Amino acid sequence: MLKNIIKGLEQSSTLKINEISAELEDKGKKIFRFGFGQSPFQIPNDIVEALKDNAYQNKYLPIQGLKELRETVAKFASIKKGYSYKSKNVIIGPGSKELMFLLHVLFDGEIILPVPSWVSYAPQAIIGRNKIQAIQTKRENNWFPTGTEIEEIILKDKNKNYLLFLNSPNNPSGQVCKNLEEISEITKKHNLIILSDEIYSELSFEKGFKSISSFCPEKTIISTGLSKWCGAGGWRLGYFIIPDSLNILRDSINVLASETFSAVSAPIQYAAITAYKSDHSEYIDRSKNILKAVGNYVYENLKSNKVLINKPQGGFYLMPEFLNKKFNTSAEMCDNILKETGVALLPGSDFGFDKKKMLARLSFTDFDGQKFMMQIKNKQEIDKSLILKFAPKIVEGVDKLKKWSTST
Ligand SMILES: Cc1ncc(COP(=O)(O)O)c(C=O)c1O
Repeated sequence: MLKNIIKGLEQSSTLKINEISAELEDKGKKIFRFGFGQSPFQIPNDIVEALKDNAYQNKYLPIQGLKELRETVAKFASIKKGYSYKSKNVIIGPGSKELMFLLHVLFDGEIILPVPSWVSYAPQAIIGRNKIQAIQTKRENNWFPTGTEIEEIILKDKNKNYLLFLNSPNNPSGQVCKNLEEISEITKKHNLIILSDEIYSELSFEKGFKSISSFCPEKTIISTGLSKWCGAGGWRLGYFIIPDSLNILRDSINVLASETFSAVSAPIQYAAITAYKSDHSEYIDRSKNILKAVGNYVYENLKSNKVLINKPQGGFYLMPEFLNKKFNTSAEMCDNILKETGVALLPGSDFGFDKKKMLARLSFTDFDGQKFMMQIKNKQEIDKSLILKFAPKIVEGVDKLKKWSTST
């Protein structure tokens, strides 16, 4: 009774690893949850209070989103990106993932996916029945595509429409894209649209994060939301910012939204106004200070002549490569790591890599972020003793992983 296109798909691996980890924990095994990535921090209090104050909001809101929220987001984004966005450019969705899904459904063309790519882009493209053009990126280029690699695909058939997914800071590599200008040149030269997935942009460790929209705003859809910087993945609120030049896409998303989710939960939208209107820079700085220190700890303690890793530049992830010839696939390797050490990782093959490449995604969020945040001062230097105190499972899990990497 299933369509062929659906039969080939499995449940998203990031959500699945969470369930497997929970099952093993129920059986009494100590699991280091480095597979699933979600913010370890609690939602800022003023935003939680705003939700409580708006629990009574019971009316359906406009399809595109509450006007006041869209205005607030447009103002916030205009300052951050240095481009003038208006409320009409903003679409509020139940998570950015759903909006991306609708984009795949309506877009007619080819989807350019740099490998590694977040796990859901490819399945969504398949459901949307668009051909995927994968670009195998390299460690030397920070795991991002070069302009030439993108252009090579477009030159094969210039008459097609192309949609490039660019995710910086990146899940799974933890890297920030440095060659935005070069990519934007190709974008302007050819018939290319970019979906810039900036869900981790507030958690970029370096100052002055740059969006590709700063270089080619008319060609860029910005995709982001509350899930990562605000610790509110479960609230399911994301948004797209679509420039006037791509109005046709905005209008079609609104049509599809009206026939599917109708509008995002009203209390969540009212609460999100506080998220974008009030200043949360101290909360974000504290989050970044902790994430950067924990990420660097993992990087420093795991890298060796048996494990290659790039230093984390933002978000929650690292992508170690184990120089190991014992396993046939990265999935087999990750199963062995879980069995031998209790450390849950996701195999590189889930992100589009050849299954023979021994890459894995490691999420360094298995700690109580609230406790950590409450106990340290703003901008305090975080040394190993603090990481040991507030992120003991990170220390123990990395230690086990390191031992595993040297013994296999
Ligand atoms: C790269 C990336 N994009 C998008 C999302 C989805 O975010 P949302 O919660 O807004 O649907 C995630 C969540 O894991 C992600 O890692």
